[in-house]
Amino acid sequence: MSRGYSLVIGILFILSLIFIVVLGDRLGEEIERADRNMTQNAQNNASSKEALTVAYNPPSLENVPDGPQGEAILRGHELVNDTSKVLRQDAASAEDGQKRINELSCSSCHAGAGLEEDSSPLVGVAAKYPNFIARSGDIVTLEERINGCMVRSMNGEAFVEDDEDLDAMIAYFKYISEGIPVGAELPWLAQNEMKEVPTPDVAAGEEKFQQSCISCHAQDGSGTGALTGPALWGDGSFNDGAGLARMSKMAGYIQNNMPKGQEKSLTDQEASNLAAFILSQDRPEFKKHEGDWPGGGKPKDLMTKDLRQQVKDGTIKWDEVLSKSAK
Ligand code: HEC
Ligand code: HEC
Repeated sequence: MSRGYSLVIGILFILSLIFIVVLGDRLGEEIERADRNMTQNAQNNASSKEALTVAYNPPSLENVPDGPQGEAILRGHELVNDTSKVLRQDAASAEDGQKRINELSCSSCHAGAGLEEDSSPLVGVAAKYPNFIARSGDIVTLEERINGCMVRSMNGEAFVEDDEDLDAMIAYFKYISEGIPVGAELPWLAQNEMKEVPTPDVAAGEEKFQQSCISCHAQDGSGTGALTGPALWGDGSFNDGAGLARMSKMAGYIQNNMPKGQEKSLTDQEASNLAAFILSQDRPEFKKHEGDWPGGGKPKDLMTKDLRQQVKDGTIKWDEVLSKSAK
């Protein structure tokens, strides 16, 4: 081998050594940088999550802006708080008013026009919608969600798209959702669902109802007024397509909110008994059950006419109605 040739090989060898060392170093730096990025991302995520958990702090109605916007917000508040009265007053005749809507108000379930933190509040809904709703099998807008309660809980007619009253409700919900970012976690929303509903004793539910509920809701459940004790069953109440027509939601609602003034005093068993008694009474029928849960997953605890009849006949199989797979 010539000396010149081994010199070239030697230099090449040294060069590649240097290359390997430098490359290794770079690689180390890269890995370190990736590491740092990852921890930083994790920290960012943690702090953005913190930022997204917002406090319950709706603005006061005394601070609405002047002018048409403020007027719409206040009109929206009035509509949500005293829905049936306001809408019936505006109807062409008393009969039209009754056809349009039942005897309830949004406040009959979303107390204080959705401002009472512990009673199905609606603060932040403008930031939550559009949102996927399994019952609709689709992403629905806030307008559509309001109409969901209009045709079920209020047993009434849906608002048409550009209805001024619907716009006013939206203005109000936007106002009480002010400052809440889209996608924020709002732990006070949709809290009234009992996870495991015990098998009810309907007769015990009736007894408890006569003891603890009739002072406000009347002995026949027809109520004393939308804001003093709304109708729990019968023509003036919600229809059997409403959320509260489900055992899990009714038992959860009763336990969290009733008897008013002594909230959270009932056991799971008592709340279940009461829910079964109330939901086995007659109420308006929802006409479009077939369209619900188009993607499957229809709950079995929705107390439709068939199930009400089964309670009366004594043939109802509560374990099936309340089975976990039903939800
Ligand atoms: C009979 C009781 C009842 C009445 C009356 C009622 N709602 Fe509801 N509303 C419910 C229940 C139950 C839910 C479902 C909560 C859940 O998902 O657990 C709901 C949900 C909603 C939601 C969605 C909340 C969320 O967190 O996604 C909006 C918005 C709403 N209602 C608006 C209204 C408006 C506006 C009215 C009056 C026009 C009204 N509701 C009347 C019972 C009622
Ligand atoms: C002191 C009066 C009072 C008593 C007692 C009372 N409620 Fe209510 N209830 C109300 C009021 C007022 C509302 C409207 C929502 C609100 O303000 O919290 C309501 C709403 C309801 C609703 C939802 C609206 C509807 O029409 O379905 C149900 C269900 C209900 N109460 C069940 C019961 C049951 C069951 C008892 C007995 C364990 C009971 N309440 C005792 C006053 C009362």
